[in-house]
Amino acid sequence: MGSRFKTVAAACIVAACALIGCGDKTPEWTEIDASTAASRRATAERARDALASELVRELTAAIANGDVAKGITVCKSRAPAIAEQVAKQHGVTIGRTSMRLRNPTNRAPQWATKAIAQAEAKPRFFEDGADKTLGALFPILLGPQCVVCHGKDEELAPAAKSALSEHYPDDQATGFSPGDLRGWFWVEVPRSD
Ligand code: HEC
Repeated sequence: MGSRFKTVAAACIVAACALIGCGDKTPEWTEIDASTAASRRATAERARDALASELVRELTAAIANGDVAKGITVCKSRAPAIAEQVAKQHGVTIGRTSMRLRNPTNRAPQWATKAIAQAEAKPRFFEDGADKTLGALFPILLGPQCVVCHGKDEELAPAAKSALSEHYPDDQATGFSPGDLRGWFWVEVPRSD
């Protein structure tokens, strides 16, 4: 084999690898001990608290008069808007997700998918090897007030059943009991320095 041929062959392998992504050098997200990222963790927790309290406030107000169907419309239209507002205020990206989704657009970012499938009810933290973005997952447990929309068939409000089948034909988020792991808040906090 001539050296010229070898050079061409090597160049082809490099080009093929670039196309199909073998030997990919993209730094990976890895799970970290959050004590190494205390200030970003605190930012993530503040953003999570802000999103959680605003969601509960608006949801409680919406269903206060027993109008569960209205609560569902509020959840559908307000949840993404509130998340966006909190994201801006805290300089993060934030959302809610689950291993059993109601809205498929609430799918988690790639770094979180493995942890979500493991479904452990504990906070977990990840870091992007490239730009040191912190990824935080905070568990969400079901409360007794959630069963009208996420509980077992006999606990679901009749108005919830029809609104859910109208808006969420692929709903997987019923059948939960109070105390069950319902899902997570996920937060991405960029490196601040
Ligand atoms: C009035 C009905 C209603 C109540 C009560 C309710 N939810 Fe939901 N929940 C919804 C709807 C509708 C969605 C989908 C929102 C969307 O389209 O993003 C949702 C989505 C979610 C999600 C996002 C993941 C997914 O599956 O799309 C989580 C997590 C969640 N709910 C947890 C809770 C918890 C915890 C409670 C109680 C504190 C609760 N919900 C109470 C209707 C409700």
